[in-house]
Amino acid sequence: MQITNRPRRLRTTQNLRRMVRETRMDASSLIYPMFVTDGKGRTEEIEALPGQYRYTVDRTDEKIEKLLNAGVGSIMLFGIPENKDEFGTQAYAEDGIVQRAVSHIKAHYPEMFVITDVCLCEYTSHGHCGVVCECCGRLDVDNDRTLELLQRTAVSQALAGADMVAPSDMMDGRVRAIREALDSNGFSNTPVMSYAVKYASSFYGPFREAAGSAPSFGDRRSYQMDYHNRREGLKEALMDVEEGADIIMVKPAMSYLDMIREVSDATDIPVATYSVSGEYAMVKAAAAKGWIDEPSIVCEMAAGAFRAGAQLYETYFAEELAGFIKEGRIG
Ligand code: PBG
Repeated sequence: MQITNRPRRLRTTQNLRRMVRETRMDASSLIYPMFVTDGKGRTEEIEALPGQYRYTVDRTDEKIEKLLNAGVGSIMLFGIPENKDEFGTQAYAEDGIVQRAVSHIKAHYPEMFVITDVCLCEYTSHGHCGVVCECCGRLDVDNDRTLELLQRTAVSQALAGADMVAPSDMMDGRVRAIREALDSNGFSNTPVMSYAVKYASSFYGPFREAAGSAPSFGDRRSYQMDYHNRREGLKEALMDVEEGADIIMVKPAMSYLDMIREVSDATDIPVATYSVSGEYAMVKAAAAKGWIDEPSIVCEMAAGAFRAGAQLYETYFAEELAGFIKEGRIG
């Protein structure tokens, strides 16, 4: 038998496999999500996210140094305030937890690129991502009233020194609203990374435990997307590009690789994806049981996201992944 094409030829040695590799990873594409909390002198491990912590501002230094040493130059901050209220006022307070964390980190580590999450759910007593209203006889989140608070949040974060803001609330029109607010306050060079394609997902469970942000009634399905929908995801992405987003995100990552591909084919701005808390928790749990090999799973998940078209990858494994990339362990 005459076999003309033998794809196995290019797989014979590690050197050759590396030469022809189509997806290459670089630590500069990684973003590390980090929780900051009010108080002093504490790092609390998050039960459902083993190895992840809530840091008081004074305890962030050690982690930032480790990240920088590993080559991870970008973090996304999530604030967990001591006091929550109906309107999430700590989200846009001048001395709010995120504002203080940003100025501390930027003062000590100006080389660290600091992204801030723009959303109210970590700050509201009811855990929803905006202002709750009674609408047509049922409780819901008031889109347009929420926009104003998101604008204030983004501007206060930029004033504190945030390098980029990332709205994750899924209100309609928030990208334009935030862009306008930033521009009129002198922050026309602060980019907006929009969580454009964000699905209502059970993969956020551990995050909500970490942030105490599970909704006290109902769920988020009146603003986050139905995970059965593909075309709607494209619509959201294109709308955010139109409204001025600089980077768009698909979230979660692992069950949504098709959307990463679709969005990166349909737009010409960088696409990010967020491997969320539930993805991390599953890997950690199975690895602790000895059922999977954690480093190789982490590398394989990351390669999948990049292969699907992501240019940026947000992951709780950022530091470890940067190490695997450096060691050449990937693949
Ligand atoms: C805030 C927000 C959430 C996540 C990121 N930003 C929670 C949610 O929408 O319920 C989840 C991230 C993760 O699970 O790691 N809206």
